[in-house]
Amino acid sequence: MPFAHITGWGMYVPEPVLTNDDISKMVDTNDEWIRDRTGIRERHIARENEFPSTLAVEAAIKALQVANLAPTELDLIICATSSPEYIFPATACLIQDQIGASKAGAFDLLAACSGFIFATNMAAQAIRSGSIKNALVIGTETLSRFVNWKDRNTCILFGDGAGAFVLQASEIPGGILSAVMHSDGSGADSLTLPGGGSHHPATELTLHEGKHFVQMDGKEVFRFATRVMGRASIEALESAGLTTADVQWIIPHQANLRIIETAAKYLKMPIEKFVINVQNYGNTSTASIPIATVEAAQKGQLKIGDKIVFVGFGAGLTWGAMVVQWTGPIPAKKLVHPEQYRRFARLRSFARRMLRFIEGLLSRKEI
Ligand code: ACO
Repeated sequence: MPFAHITGWGMYVPEPVLTNDDISKMVDTNDEWIRDRTGIRERHIARENEFPSTLAVEAAIKALQVANLAPTELDLIICATSSPEYIFPATACLIQDQIGASKAGAFDLLAACSGFIFATNMAAQAIRSGSIKNALVIGTETLSRFVNWKDRNTCILFGDGAGAFVLQASEIPGGILSAVMHSDGSGADSLTLPGGGSHHPATELTLHEGKHFVQMDGKEVFRFATRVMGRASIEALESAGLTTADVQWIIPHQANLRIIETAAKYLKMPIEKFVINVQNYGNTSTASIPIATVEAAQKGQLKIGDKIVFVGFGAGLTWGAMVVQWTGPIPAKKLVHPEQYRRFARLRSFARRMLRFIEGLLSRKEI
């Protein structure tokens, strides 16, 4: 049975930065309150012409560069997102088209901030089963589009960005060692974006009632998160036959520094073992774990053989954890340039549209 290794990683955040001071000009809050209660100092906000797919493409190309893998070699793309570009088509399909992943099946996975762990687990299972060899998993968000910038309870928390992993099959032991996934829909109301789906399709009333904005019971989500983070980590470690003593790094979902500190206490682990960057990005939902991983990898913190726990929670309610033995890229004989496939991808996309148009004309004649 092949093992599923993380062989590439990439991240991208939009350039514009929104500081706590900037937000204090929009709602009744201040830098000190936000830092004390959340640890967040600033977050990146997508420009008008940036979308989950465009952020994801930047992160994906970087991940493919690290893995030295051509997009045409990908069998599967899973995009975890809580702020999809459309209800359909899937954001994953837009990414597949833009990077030129011509043979990949692509779909979105919705498990809110736990989505990246769930998606990585699904891709790893597909690799472990032998049905695919190469997968791209992406977490990408422009939650700033769904935040009520007049609501100080939520607008201070979220930021935009994308992170991606390439997963590849290898006979060498390691990679994804275990994963646990949990859900509790009885807490669905605690964190929700109720408008725009089938239950509350867009109407003047839903707009007026603010149903198209994130709605959150912050205290309830906080209590839930502090309950599940430590427990899920232990569960995933036990499933891998490991204990906290074997772990070099915990990479948690970056929602709130206080939640991470509580998890550290529960696990009786020093906070220095936690990768933390919530201060610079806020809560980027599905993108937060891969973004934190990329930064740790770039700083040289993640060493080959390190045991790492990814752990997250989110709307749903959902939560999960994963244990990984860090390996890095598979040594390659020749260098590929994934970024060059983008140009061809644009041409290919145009050609396929033209072909469909011509086919449409011909079939009309036949009818
Ligand atoms: N600035 C100043 N005061 C504020 C602000 C603000 N931005 N927001 C709330 N307050 C006020 C409240 O109105 C309240 O005032 P009151 O006592 O007069 O009523 C007071 O501060 C305390 O509010 P609490 O809600 O008790 O503050 P708390 O310490 O719980 O912190 C927070 C709020 C930061 C939202 C916290 O509850 C939290 O982080 N919860 C988890 C949220 C989260 O992680 N969500 C994402 C989940 S992942 C996903 O799926 C997307």
